[in-house]
Amino acid sequence: MKIVFAGAGAVGCHYGSRLIQAGFDVLLLARGEHLTALQQHGLKHQSDGACKQIPVQATADIEQLNRCKIVILCCKMTALSQMLASLQHILHPEALILTLQNGVEAPDMAASAFPDHAVATGTAFIGARIEAPGYVVHSAAGGLRMGLWQLGRGAQHLPWLIQACRDAAIPIRQDDDPAALLWRKLLWNCGFNAITAITRRYASDMAANSETVAIVRQAMQETVAVGHALGIAIGAEDIEKHIDITLTMGPVKTSMWQDIEAGRRTEVDYINGYVASQAEAMQLPAAANRMLASLIHAIEAAPDKK
Ligand SMILES: NC(=O)c1ccc[n+]([C@@H]2O[C@H](COP(=O)([O-])OP(=O)(O)OC[C@H]3O[C@@H](n4cnc5c(N)ncnc54)[C@H](OP(=O)(O)O)[C@@H]3O)[C@@H](O)[C@H]2O)c1
Repeated sequence: MKIVFAGAGAVGCHYGSRLIQAGFDVLLLARGEHLTALQQHGLKHQSDGACKQIPVQATADIEQLNRCKIVILCCKMTALSQMLASLQHILHPEALILTLQNGVEAPDMAASAFPDHAVATGTAFIGARIEAPGYVVHSAAGGLRMGLWQLGRGAQHLPWLIQACRDAAIPIRQDDDPAALLWRKLLWNCGFNAITAITRRYASDMAANSETVAIVRQAMQETVAVGHALGIAIGAEDIEKHIDITLTMGPVKTSMWQDIEAGRRTEVDYINGYVASQAEAMQLPAAANRMLASLIHAIEAAPDKK
């Protein structure tokens, strides 16, 4: 069964590489200089202390996705609407769609774009980055958790995909409550992602400093309150777990920090911005999330944002 990683950057190339090395049939949908490098030289993949050059099938031709029964959407949230629009009338009728974006909106977006297809959603617990075109570095963790979001044609492919990941030595768990899974990750991102991009300091530093951890905690408390109001099973205990784990984390640059350094638009509108707008609609407090989103917007708008 052919698996496509649609928007194969850091996350897609890492997991794609693992599956290719285990013998699975994988297509990488990519673009720009990164695609050219993948097509000309294969993928340079640094992971677990080894650097390998992996031959890959890579394309920008969306039509080629019509042969794929597993479609893993791994572009950023900022590119997801356009990606979903481009897949209309292309997807195999029995394709399973899996979203791996940060934030909590991706599976609903995929489900409304493809109401007859099965949609699964998951979270990548990983540190990975595109170091240079065609060169992906996996720097931390690497687990996947996922669950079914929308029943439909292709749902039978989810257990197959999970087994394929196991065969490829990807740590993976199926989750019965994927909404809570996404919200727990959102909770960490609301607390730590923007603040590390603003200060250019590691998340462990933010957790260890009494002034910054107070901001982290406030952003997370607001997120829990919004989640509760939406019926999501997250709680205050998740905040302290996240802070405790973050204190032990190594020097990993968060995605917003990397995006700011690269002069790219960040995903803040899908993280702190999402919580702030949901809170506003429900008349809940969201001062910390609104402040973090505003500061990231200001950095994004600066002429020399790097
Ligand atoms: N990297 C991590 O460590 C990590 C960890 C956990 C979760 N995540 C989440 O996973 C998602 C993916 O992150 P990532 O770090 O893998 O992003 P990334 O490295 O930027 O990869 C996304 C790739 O998709 C490409 N793309 C976007 N639209 C496309 C299209 N229509 N056709 C072909 N290629 C397209 C992008 O190209 P352009 O650069 O030209 O736009 C980019 O190369 C995000 O939501 C992120 O928050 C990432």
